Amino acid sequence: MEGLSQLIDRAAKDILSSRKTIAFTGAGISVESGIPDFRSADGLWSRYDPDEYAHISAFRANPEKVWRMLKEMMELTLGAEPNPAHRALAELEEMGLLSSVITQNVDGLHQRAGSKNVIEFHGTNDYLVCIRCGWRRESKDLSFDEIPPRCEKCGFILKPDVVFFGEPIPPEAQRRAFEEARTCDVVLVIGTSAVVFPAGEIPIVAKRRGAKVVEINKESTVLTGSISDYLLQGKAGEILPRIVEKVREGMH
Ligand code: OAD
Ligand code: ZN
Repeated sequence: MEGLSQLIDRAAKDILSSRKTIAFTGAGISVESGIPDFRSADGLWSRYDPDEYAHISAFRANPEKVWRMLKEMMELTLGAEPNPAHRALAELEEMGLLSSVITQNVDGLHQRAGSKNVIEFHGTNDYLVCIRCGWRRESKDLSFDEIPPRCEKCGFILKPDVVFFGEPIPPEAQRRAFEEARTCDVVLVIGTSAVVFPAGEIPIVAKRRGAKVVEINKESTVLTGSISDYLLQGKAGEILPRIVEKVREGMH
């Protein structure tokens, strides 16, 4: 059995010998920035039933109730800072060793850490969109005085520009993400349970095309031992900087 240090060396070698590496991230990468994930014991879905809060039909039926949860999440994400895991991915890209970050997160922390090629598979909290006329505005100056917030064009209800269950993936993000998955030879899967589809297809598509799947997660997941070639078990904010350090050593 390889220990964590050996697996960190192995991941660094795989990245160094890869023609194209991508990252696929989920809520776990932002936990160390103070944003809870969804499915851990203290995750968001332990306090809010996703059937009542995450489906677009639930939002339409009771926007005021759903906005109470959204307000909590948006205040957290708008105030959060990137952590060493986000920064490590930005460094890898800067070094020319990471093609893109495909994220299921809506917190914008990859971009704030300096990542340039970020594909937001589930949209973003940084914008609000009218569910009637499509008018958009930035979230950052939202006062939250009026819940739900209203469209300045037509007066209807605004929703964060994120994908709810029952809504389609933004087509351009979906196209680019699967193109990356088909053409990479290493995918770093970080802090995701990988149970939500179609996002969960990304590592599977990469694997089918012959890519190595390197998993970094606190716990094993549905991918571990089947789709993943190996799991580096622990906190992303501790493991990713160690991988990047090894990659740097290996470059000269
Ligand atoms: P989940 O909550 O399902 O999974 C988070 C994963 O991160 C779990 O496997 C945790 O063990 C792991 N984790 C927690 N802290 C970590 C840390 N510090 N370092 C490394 N791993 C850690 O979140 P997602 O997979 O992102 O969709 O969830 C997918 C989608 O479900 C979300 O995008 C959202 C949600 O419903 C929509 O809103 C459409
Ligand atoms: Zn409108």
